[in-house]
Amino acid sequence: MAIWLPDLEGRSGPKYLQIVEAMAEDVASGRLATGTQLPPHRELAYQLDVSANTTSRAYAEAVRRALLRGEVGRGTFVRSIDDSVPHEKPNTLHRPQTGPVDLSRNLPFPGFAEPHVRRILNEISGGSGLHSLLDYQAEAELEAHTNAGLKWLEKCGVEARREEIVATMGAQHGLLCVLTSILSPGDLLLTEQLTYTPICAIAERLGLHTRQVDMDTAGVIPDSFEEQCRTSKPRAFYLTPTLQAPTTVTLSDTRRQSIAEIANRYGVIIIEDDVFGPLKTDRPETIAMRAPDHTVYVTSLSKAVAPGLRVGFLRAPERLMPGVRQAINLSVWMTPPLMLEVAARLIVDGLAGELATRQRTLAAKRQALARSILGDVEFASDINGLHIWLPLFNDLRADVFRAQCAQQGVLVSEARSFSAQPDGVPEAIRICLSHEPNEMRLKQALQKVADLIKAPSSSYMLSI
Ligand SMILES: Cc1ncc(COP(=O)(O)O)c(C=O)c1O
Repeated sequence: MAIWLPDLEGRSGPKYLQIVEAMAEDVASGRLATGTQLPPHRELAYQLDVSANTTSRAYAEAVRRALLRGEVGRGTFVRSIDDSVPHEKPNTLHRPQTGPVDLSRNLPFPGFAEPHVRRILNEISGGSGLHSLLDYQAEAELEAHTNAGLKWLEKCGVEARREEIVATMGAQHGLLCVLTSILSPGDLLLTEQLTYTPICAIAERLGLHTRQVDMDTAGVIPDSFEEQCRTSKPRAFYLTPTLQAPTTVTLSDTRRQSIAEIANRYGVIIIEDDVFGPLKTDRPETIAMRAPDHTVYVTSLSKAVAPGLRVGFLRAPERLMPGVRQAINLSVWMTPPLMLEVAARLIVDGLAGELATRQRTLAAKRQALARSILGDVEFASDINGLHIWLPLFNDLRADVFRAQCAQQGVLVSEARSFSAQPDGVPEAIRICLSHEPNEMRLKQALQKVADLIKAPSSSYMLSI
């Protein structure tokens, strides 16, 4: 069988990189199929009339880029990106204490709410109100729960009237209800270039079109939003202006104001996802307060208190509320009164606010830990945030780096997971600091990421 020879015609730069480039193209085109054995590097050197050192460097670089895997004594093979990557990544939000350290999930620190919820459940079960909480919701509870919701929104910087607010089963449910009630199949939904991708999945299910608004390092760009409004007639724009997932950016006062004004001018509905808002101490005023007639504001207790409660609140202009309420009725009839009662007591007693403070305190500690371990590696972060955003340099591809981390037992997410479009995605990874409860495991995992990012390519040399 003919041995593989790279096509170096028209390439420039160091010879070993030319070989790697040609190899990457052949892997991408399928000319080099997964599992194909490559010629020994000396043989390839002979065929190409280059030194054995050049082909050896090329193979080492290809291993580093996860194009090849070397098996001692057997040879070098084209690998699939998932080769040797642990497949244990569970499709669950559990926090296993063994196996790979999962830094790919943006969950809050667990356990803080438990004693309070236990006490409240005891109180409820010992009191006389349980009966009605187990029934379809009565008016009296509705009022108490709405009051608690108004209080939580106030804490998030949003003033609302009771006609404008409704409880949901978390922010995700709120978003689903907004999308189903205000958009119709064929409508255009804008999202940030990098976004919370379940939104794109919901949009696809609902037959919506999606387009992306450009971002820079300060977040979504108002001019790009306006351009889309002028040219494409979007119905709504979904964005996360505070502690954006994945970039960590909190949008500035000026940009929020511009976005609010553009939405008002073009009659576009802003869907402001403020799920991380309760964690952020000093943030500019919400878009909901700048363009109240054109903003649906969605938040929850998931990041600040406990995601398992599945309680969130949504504020919309009154004219949109009948549709939103109907979507809630159609999906779950009502947000479970028992859970709402627990949430309401936490909010009214001020405990929900205290729990948010505890999340912030630990977030700050873990952010400091990440900084101390990653040293002078450049990354974006926020002291109140649960994750960091790490751009990659020197031609390091995010999928390759993710695979290398996974080989070391550390699970991270690459930028592509946050984009509905394959083009223009930056090479960057998101590292979540709060899903792993064990600080020692987190430290070890971050150290592995730091070592990988700082390692010269020679340290990936395998014996081939
Ligand atoms: C940006 C964003 N929006 C919404 C949600 C859903 O939040 P909830 O758990 O309140 O449904 C998440 C959850 O991770 C999120 O990251």
